[in-house]
Parts: sequence; C-alpha cells; structure tokens
Amino acid sequence: MSSSKATLDKIVSLCKRRGFVYQSGEIYAGLNGVYDFGPLGALLKHTIKNKWLEHMMSFPEEVLLVDGSLLGGAEIWKASGHLDNFSDPMVDCLQCKKRYRADDVDLEKNCPHCGNKQWTAVRQFNLMFKTELGAMADATSVAYLRPETAQAIFINFKNVMSSYRVKVPFGIAQIGKAFRNEITPKQFLFRMREFEQMEMEFFCKGEDADRFFDLWVARRKAFFMSLGLQPDRVRLRPHASDELAHYSKACIDVEYEFPFGWKELEGIANRSDYDLSQHSKHSGKDLGVFDEATKSSYVPHVVECSVGVDRLFLTLLFDAYDEEEVDGELRTVLRFHPAIAPFTAAVMPLSNKLAEPAEKLFLDLKAKGFRVQFDDGGSIGKRYRRQDEIGTPVCFTYDFDSVNDNCVTARNRDTMQQERVSIDTIHDYLRRLVAG
Ligand code: GAP
Repeated sequence: MSSSKATLDKIVSLCKRRGFVYQSGEIYAGLNGVYDFGPLGALLKHTIKNKWLEHMMSFPEEVLLVDGSLLGGAEIWKASGHLDNFSDPMVDCLQCKKRYRADDVDLEKNCPHCGNKQWTAVRQFNLMFKTELGAMADATSVAYLRPETAQAIFINFKNVMSSYRVKVPFGIAQIGKAFRNEITPKQFLFRMREFEQMEMEFFCKGEDADRFFDLWVARRKAFFMSLGLQPDRVRLRPHASDELAHYSKACIDVEYEFPFGWKELEGIANRSDYDLSQHSKHSGKDLGVFDEATKSSYVPHVVECSVGVDRLFLTLLFDAYDEEEVDGELRTVLRFHPAIAPFTAAVMPLSNKLAEPAEKLFLDLKAKGFRVQFDDGGSIGKRYRRQDEIGTPVCFTYDFDSVNDNCVTARNRDTMQQERVSIDTIHDYLRRLVAG
C-alpha cells in the first residue's frame, strides 16, 4: 500500500481556503452532495476537460462531440433500464430517523448513529430526479434529470450518422452534468448528487468489440499516466462475471487508491448491442447500420469509457498533495503535473519598487497564453508557500539585478532550487515545463 499524507479533511480544508471548491449554498447552511467550484477549481476542471477531449480526439478513429439535453422524457429511461433498475437499497433507523444505504450498514448490528437496533424494511430507492414539464401535471409531462450522459449519445446515434458523414467504427463523446439522488452522498467530490461526466461511446461491429475494448483500456490507462498520477496508486480491476450488468460482456474499472481504499475512477465496458437495440425496440426506429460489404444490416456494439470530472479532480488533488518540514515549518505542496496546475507560473516583484517591470513580464506571459498569476502580497517566503499550496510549478522573482541582467530567479516548486533564467528565454522555459 502506498502512503499518502492527504486526508479527506485536509483536502476539503485546502479546497475551501484556496478557492478550489465550496459547499454549495454555504451561506444558507449548504446543500448536501452539491458543490460550487471557485476560481482555481474552475480552472482545474477546465483543464481536465480539455485534456480528456484532446486525448479522445488524438486517435486514428474518429471521435465526434455532442452536447445533449439534461432533461429526458420517461420513455428514454424506460428503454435504458434506469426507471426499473437504477436504484439503491435504503433503510432507516426508526429511533433517530437516520437514513442509510442498506449495503453500507450491518443490519444485524445497532445503528452507528444512535446505537439502537430498530430498522425499517429495506426498500429500493430510484436515484433519478423526477420533474414535470410545463403547467399541466400529467403522465405525459414527466421528465427526469439525466443520471448519466450516455443515453443522449445513444438516442442521437442515427442523427449523428445521417447528418455527419461518418462510418462505423467511430466514437461519440460528451462532457456534461449528470444528477443522482444518492441516498448518502459522501467523501466530498467522490459521491455527489450533481456532478459532471466525460463519456465516450465507441460504436463498432460485434466481432471487433473485444479488440476495441482492449485498445481503449490501454489508451485510458495511458491517459491517467499522462496526467502525472502515481503509477502505484492506479490499477485495472476486471469485473467478476457475477458483477457484470446483464448486457455487459466485460467491464474493467480503473481504480485509484484513495485514503479510504481502492475505488473506481473510471468504468470501461463492452456493452454489446444492448443500448441501440433497446432504443430501437422502444422507439420503433431502426437504429441498425447497413453494411455495404455484406449487404445486410446490423446493430453496432458499444465500448464505453466513463469517468467523472469531479472524481478525477479529487483524485488529482489526493495524488498531488504532499507535506514536508522545511526549516522547522510545515510546507504543504500540491505536486500537480505542470500541464494540470491551475497556474503554470507566478511572477513576483521582490519589492514594490519593481512592480512595474514585473507586471510587464506578467502581462507579456499572459498575452502569450500562459496561465500565470501576479503575486505581490507579503514576504517572498510567504508567497512561495501560497503558490506551493495551489501547485504552481515555478515562481519567477523580479529583483534589483533583473533591471541590469534581464534575468529573473526561477524557483522550482518541487525541489525549491533556484536558478537565473533570461527573460528572453522564459517562453521556451515554460513550454518545456508544461511538456513535462
Ligand atoms: N454510463 C455509465 C455510468 O454512468 P457509472 O459507473 O455509474 O457508469 C461512471 O459512472 C463514472 O461517473 C464513475 O466511474 C465516476 O467517475 C462517475 N460518478 C458516478 N457517480 C458519481 C457520483 N455520484 N459523484 C461523482 N462522480 C460519479
């Protein structure tokens, strides 16, 4: 087991202190399982999504992007199986009224909250948020907030094929919000009620599905490594046959070793032809594809890669978090890969008298598209600690020598080593840093 200095409490506290994540509606006592992202969190999320898109679109096979609606009619969720099966077992303590997922507590034992043993019967609780469209409340107005982004891809499969000249095999990718009324949201961003998913559904012939499944597993593992995750904290866990959904031929979870154990980060599944067949059956529309070679029609199979933006966000924080003692004081540092860090560099004037030329350098870097922050508050030591805590890989200090030698002192976040860097070469320096 690899060791981590990060605990959930430390991560939650750092996120709030430095503007990564806030409890949603905090000034009104907050909403359980719902979070807002502050300036640094929004930047990090943006980077995660960009990296995922770049990755998805970097392969020889075409992967197209869609952006589906959040609301979906009941027929969609009937066909997908969510209306009938997307539920968790729930149980209440009759004494203190605390509610649990039945698989989270031992019903042979007493309530962990109040110590009594008076349980209700276990009931199935559907996790979808239900709502009504328009002013007339009847069966036809019922809609649900989507519990996954995938269905918007399946129901638009034919639209995409006929409006965009593309041939199987190809993928459709989507990034967007999903909603699940989790009985017990927990572990901060790990299990939320409102979250974001990045899903890619890859359509292929049935006989090619195993090959593409293996290919996407390898590609996705490489993706997580490219984000700088520590290899010994990432593993692939194939599902046992009794764990597989009835339509799934194979499923592998990419797991990460959180302080609360090995948990799913991403699910990769060979979903057979279940999804398109179900929507064909329920909608009455033929979602098959004509194969010119065999002059016959077939229903494509699907390989799915599905990861939560927020869960990956949390993973990156746990993975990057480190503490060490420096000169008798605790230094907290986020060792993000430079391509992931919210800011690649900070520019600091050593003295207020140097603010003008330092700001000129800052504005030049910003105009060139680098993510940089101007930091002129407090002693240089304090500024370094502040930047360490948000994971900025390098700080450039503009000092009194800079005026004459046109160099700045570059201080490395991880080694704390300093070197003089010519301002003329600073763009290349940053590009090399981001490239890793
Ligand atoms: N379309 C398949 C699907 O939705 P899932 O395993 O239920 O499969 C896929 O979800 C990914 O979405 C998970 O691996 C996780 O990263 C993320 N995810 C699921 N539920 C979540 C929740 N309540 N909060 C945060 N992320 C969640």
